Amino acid sequence: MAKYNVIFVLGGPGAGKGTQCENIVREYGYVHLSAGDLLREERQRPGSQFGEEIETHIKNGTIVPVQITCSLLKRAMENSGKDRFLIDGFPRNQDNLDGWNKEMSDVATVIRVLFFNCPEEVCVDRCLSRGKTSGRADDNEESLKKRIKTYNESTMAIIEHYRNLNLVSEIKAEHGPETVFEDVKKVLTDLQ
Ligand code: C5P
Ligand code: MG
Repeated sequence: MAKYNVIFVLGGPGAGKGTQCENIVREYGYVHLSAGDLLREERQRPGSQFGEEIETHIKNGTIVPVQITCSLLKRAMENSGKDRFLIDGFPRNQDNLDGWNKEMSDVATVIRVLFFNCPEEVCVDRCLSRGKTSGRADDNEESLKKRIKTYNESTMAIIEHYRNLNLVSEIKAEHGPETVFEDVKKVLTDLQ
């Protein structure tokens, strides 16, 4: 038996991954780990040898090498003392997936992939309005175009990979957070 159970949470930028993860944590008691948040934290950590590399990828909407991201995730999982995780924004490309399988397949079982499917216009609107207060370096039109390109060119293939393994629950994500959470609950309740 693997030590950890993991739900991956995927979807475009602004699809509502973080918002729905907070809801899930409140009602179902998973530990939420956002790959993007962990990378932003590492970027800020004084003395981090990866700060600049992470900064460049975030601005360009490209994907940080998996050795960095996966070690941050692994450490956060170990330090939590818990065994059920929502991992949000990972794996985002083939490198992420390969690195995860190599490092984590012995200790973690992926029990489901939640895919928040949201029209591009809605994603763009949400990120631009979040950008007014988020202070994020990548919630602007230029970075967003690149993030959406990465999503279409690299992340969709990972979702397909998990769909072929019958692990994907697709959720329509264009409505408000309460409406979307009703669908999320159906999936999570089935997993209990
Ligand atoms: O998920 P979030 O929108 O917070 O991710 C922000 C950025 O962090 C991504 O556009 C990407 O540059 C970086 N990231 C990454 N690898 C991941 C998750 C996020 O490189 N698995
Ligand atoms: Mg997020």
